[in-house]
Amino acid sequence: MQAGIPLTAETVVAITGASSGIGAALAEQLGARGVRLALCARRRDRLAEVAAQARQRGAAAVLDMVVDVSVEKEAEQFITQTLAAYDNRLDVLILNAGRGHCASVEDTTTDVLQAMFALNVYQLWYLVRPALPVMKAQRRGHIIAVSSIVGKIAYPYNAAYVAAKHAVVGFIAALRTELVETGVEATVVCPSGVQTEWAQVTDGAPIGDLFAEGIVRSRAIAQQRNIPRAPLQRMMSAAEVAQQIIAAVEAPPGRDVFTHEGSEELVALALRSRRAYEEAMLPLLLGMREAYEARR
Ligand SMILES: NC(=O)c1ccc[n+]([C@@H]2O[C@H](COP(=O)([O-])OP(=O)(O)OC[C@H]3O[C@@H](n4cnc5c(N)ncnc54)[C@H](OP(=O)(O)O)[C@@H]3O)[C@@H](O)[C@H]2O)c1
Repeated sequence: MQAGIPLTAETVVAITGASSGIGAALAEQLGARGVRLALCARRRDRLAEVAAQARQRGAAAVLDMVVDVSVEKEAEQFITQTLAAYDNRLDVLILNAGRGHCASVEDTTTDVLQAMFALNVYQLWYLVRPALPVMKAQRRGHIIAVSSIVGKIAYPYNAAYVAAKHAVVGFIAALRTELVETGVEATVVCPSGVQTEWAQVTDGAPIGDLFAEGIVRSRAIAQQRNIPRAPLQRMMSAAEVAQQIIAAVEAPPGRDVFTHEGSEELVALALRSRRAYEEAMLPLLLGMREAYEARR
């Protein structure tokens, strides 16, 4: 079993997308554990607030950098400046920055497609490439990527994001095969709904609103057709998800992490039979279709 990374005043943890949501919760909780942090995001003010909170909670040091991780040079500089600030040491890299969109497959423009992959997928290489030689030389490190339940299954009207999050799962699976017996660990985390800004800042329109309306409509559809409601997981807080990610740092699970109760069973159902998954989800799929068409 791979040893966990002890969280001490020497430990260096880099977190992308730390200005809000899961990334901010990670910064606060890891700050309270007294580690050295490197944080990045695009919104300077929000990031500075999170950095101040982390310092207040007890972080041994905090570096905060304004970075767009979808830009190769900026992403690379985040890693090189973290290494420069912290004696060429990096123990944990949490690839958390991400953004979704809201559009059907036929309404998705090539610009949105490229932006979804640059942000959610290409950044993995930009950030991991400069981090890996250091972690391998240390014979210690953990790369954690925040994918999503939609890295395994799908909901409609954000196929570019869904495909990108599937790529995140594939990236970590492939990376792990290159890391056996190096002392470096890699884990993918697959949350379902988390109460953050994510669902309101999706490109095109807030997908959270489409979900909410789809759920309302799905109840009527289930009743009309006399079929069960679609299975939904309870929304979790960013703090709860951050706790699970930190638990994976301290005790690497060696498996993909499903943060929400019931989501692994849904994934298993879809793997066994896509049709069975669609049947179980039918009221929601139809409810979201109604809601999407009503907005066009
Ligand atoms: N919330 C959910 O229901 C949910 C479910 C499954 C997976 N996830 C995933 O969880 C991760 C964290 O999202 P969240 O829920 O915490 O939402 P959030 O509050 O919107 O956080 C997203 C973070 O990513 C940063 N970010 C976005 N684009 C960036 C860019 N180009 N460069 C650098 N940073 C960027 C944002 O900061 P700036 O805007 O300041 O750059 C923000 O700090 C994402 O990968 C998301 O896809 C979320």
